[in-house]
Amino acid sequence: MDSLYVLHAGPPSVDDFLRLRRDSGLSERSRHGAELGIDGAWAAVHVTDRRTGGTVGMGRVIGDGGTYFHITDMAVLPEHQRRGIGDEILRALLATVYAAAGEDAYVNLLGDAPGVRLYARHGFVESAPGSIGMHRLPPP
Ligand SMILES: CC(C)(COP(=O)(O)OP(=O)(O)OC[C@H]1O[C@@H](n2cnc3c(N)ncnc32)[C@H](O)[C@@H]1OP(=O)(O)O)[C@@H](O)C(=O)NCCC(=O)NCCS
Repeated sequence: MDSLYVLHAGPPSVDDFLRLRRDSGLSERSRHGAELGIDGAWAAVHVTDRRTGGTVGMGRVIGDGGTYFHITDMAVLPEHQRRGIGDEILRALLATVYAAAGEDAYVNLLGDAPGVRLYARHGFVESAPGSIGMHRLPPP
């Protein structure tokens, strides 16, 4: 990652969480949900731009701390993408998981297209056909 950027342990603010999801093209989350959940991740990191102090990237891990970990909210603002920030975020989250739980920890994610190559570089493989990723959408 470029030295213009600084990686911090911990989640972004609620405002930054909502902005980063929206402006990077991820589905939007409610403010209510973000306020309830922002401190609920097992681990989180965010990245700031030294020039402005603004938050430009984030990633979080939901997990039980020992056996099962789910990577979420990987987002880098478009104007800061392709500079190694996503790589640094994922590297930090995975290092935290394996340092705490050991190499047999189970780590998964639902990969959107922009992140698939990044995840593959970090050892993720498609779970199908052995297991099919499924999610439940909110009622209309
Ligand atoms: C997925 C995402 C988080 C990746 O963030 P990023 O900061 O762009 O990631 P990186 O810079 O580490 O890697 C992205 C690409 O830039 C390349 N790159 C890294 N540093 C570079 C540099 N200095 N110059 C040129 N290319 C560079 C990487 O090799 C990689 O290339 P590839 O994808 O073709 O293999 C970001 O694209 C994003 O927020 N997308 C929208 C939201 C999203 O879909 N999130 C994933 C949900 S699962």
